[in-house]
Amino acid sequence: TANKTLLMLPGDGIGPEVSRQVRRIIDWMAKRRQVTFEVNEGLVGGAAYDAHGTPLTDETMADAMGADAVLFGAVGGPKWDDLPFAVKPERGLLRLRKDMQLFANLRPALVFEALAEASSLKPELVRGLDILIVRELTGGVYFGEPRGIETLPNGERRGFNTQSYTTSEIVRVAAVAFDLAKKRSNKVHSVEKANVMESGVLWREEVQKLHDAKYAEVELQHMYADNCAMQLVRTPKQFDVIVTDNLFGDILSDCAAMLTGSLGMLPSASLGAPDASGRRKALYEPVHGSAPDIAGRDLANPLAMILSFAMMLRYSFDMDEDADLVEKAVKNVLAGGIRTSDIMSAGAAKVSTTTMGDAIIRELDKLSA
Ligand code: NAD
Ligand code: IPM
Ligand code: MN
Repeated sequence: TANKTLLMLPGDGIGPEVSRQVRRIIDWMAKRRQVTFEVNEGLVGGAAYDAHGTPLTDETMADAMGADAVLFGAVGGPKWDDLPFAVKPERGLLRLRKDMQLFANLRPALVFEALAEASSLKPELVRGLDILIVRELTGGVYFGEPRGIETLPNGERRGFNTQSYTTSEIVRVAAVAFDLAKKRSNKVHSVEKANVMESGVLWREEVQKLHDAKYAEVELQHMYADNCAMQLVRTPKQFDVIVTDNLFGDILSDCAAMLTGSLGMLPSASLGAPDASGRRKALYEPVHGSAPDIAGRDLANPLAMILSFAMMLRYSFDMDEDADLVEKAVKNVLAGGIRTSDIMSAGAAKVSTTTMGDAIIRELDKLSA
């Protein structure tokens, strides 16, 4: 069926390089599975700043609001690092998240069997690992007011931000985590620093209350964020679902990424609340950034982006079969020993972004023959 509208925002650095490989899969699906998406493309980040003087135009914002799903590459780079805060590339992404009210960011860290050896941890610690970080995405210190840089009477400068959470912000993201846990291993770790921060105290209380009222059958544990960082690299398989705030979720998910072999492997889905018809606004993006150190050289791992596309098929379009197919293609290609160079595994063939894309398409052909 037609009329599934996608907005692709490739962005900067390796964003366009990895997005191109998803575009090929979209074309493949139209040809081979009679699934057509209406794809619109737009500028975001530094690319939008260079063209329009803003990292996200109102037109592109409106396109994002109107699309069934947004596929986002990555933004940022040294070229734009010294720009004023209001027009930095990263603001484009933050505005999308905030204005679309994408409060729940799902970051699954899954270890493919072929990559257990490529993790920076011992293979037995990560083999079979499947954890899901649910990161709150529209609140906390990223958006809290007041914020700014001011000059004090004594001439010193002071930079300040505000960490803040309301009960409803906590409860809605915790509910997403509990609901997902019920379909998985039924275990949630709620992560904050209630020993140091009032927002952490509230977080803990509200998560516990919601649990007792509605999710008593789910196993709930509270954990301090510093301990969680340590536990993630000590015994990561103790975790199923981790729910945490915006900043801790950002940091812990990069950490979890390395368990899977590379940051270039981690996809994500950012979801809003369901509307009356049950549909959620959604944006899908790899967890990694624009990787300026390797951009423009056809070296980037496109799998995080491709797996983000698979999450889109699953969460926005209920196309589980197609999502399974894409994930299976990734799994098989890795099992065949093909790797981009970010993955540290001895003896594997090191290939370019494009060649990895070729291999995925070839595998999709094979799987659907
Ligand atoms: P980064 O994620 O871009 O890169 C960190 C390291 O991981 C680099 O060595 C990079 O080469 C490597 N890497 C990342 N993705 C890879 C991939 N797909 N394949 C192979 N290697 C990969 O983080 P950074 O260097 O801290 O930030 C660079 C820029 O990206 C900054 O401007 C930052 O603000 C921005 N950023 C954007 C996003 C986003 O758009 N969602 C996320 C993180 C960082
Ligand atoms: C991420 C990124 C973003 C964040 C930046 C680019 C705004 O690091 O998506 O993980 O900090 O949320
Ligand atoms: Mn990040």
